[in-house]
Amino acid sequence: MNSHEFVAQLVEEMDRLFAQLGETDTLESESEGKVDVVTLLRLALKSELEASELAGSWMSTTPEVEAKMALAAQCGDEMRHYALISDRLVELGQDLSGFDALADGHSPLYQYLRGLRTTVERIAAGPFASEAIAQIRNAQFVNFCRQVGDSKTADLYVDIIQPEEAHHHLLGRQVLEKYATTPELQELAAAAARNTLAIADELRNLAAKTTGVHNIPVS
Ligand SMILES: [Fe+2]
Ligand SMILES: [Fe+2]
Repeated sequence: MNSHEFVAQLVEEMDRLFAQLGETDTLESESEGKVDVVTLLRLALKSELEASELAGSWMSTTPEVEAKMALAAQCGDEMRHYALISDRLVELGQDLSGFDALADGHSPLYQYLRGLRTTVERIAAGPFASEAIAQIRNAQFVNFCRQVGDSKTADLYVDIIQPEEAHHHLLGRQVLEKYATTPELQELAAAAARNTLAIADELRNLAAKTTGVHNIPVS
């Protein structure tokens, strides 16, 4: 299989998985049922921070220059998302002085991602799969914000954050299309993407619903 066919197949596999999600599933999974705008924005701060830290840490140890560019851009964007979300929380009356998004430690997904060593695994798990999950989660969050009348938070996501997450995913896809060219590399990339889907907090509700992609054991 050539790399373009391989990536298209991975995208299809993810889309099939996402199609099984109920309209607030990612939000309920992520917040353990506490679906409200402030809780979800606070959780988003942790996701943005972890995404930025990972992209930054990978950038210096990923040799291919296209991958470095994707990771460097992502590192900066995610930290800007962190700042925008913080500002919105303050507007909503939250006091973030002394707030530490990582007070409970990093997520299981972050721990897994930190261990990835090859470019195709990092890009498949990070920009490609994690950013696809972010887009699904954010789309559900936007719908939820509109339902509860918070159009300003919805607009922040629709106008700024969501298009940038889509761009990160696209960059990841392009890097994979360039480098996932052999069966061995494709196997590494597919396993990293599937493990990411299996571990992500946002997809926890799917575990009970699915067999197939979601029960692939985590190494
Ligand atoms: Fe982000
Ligand atoms: Fe992103």
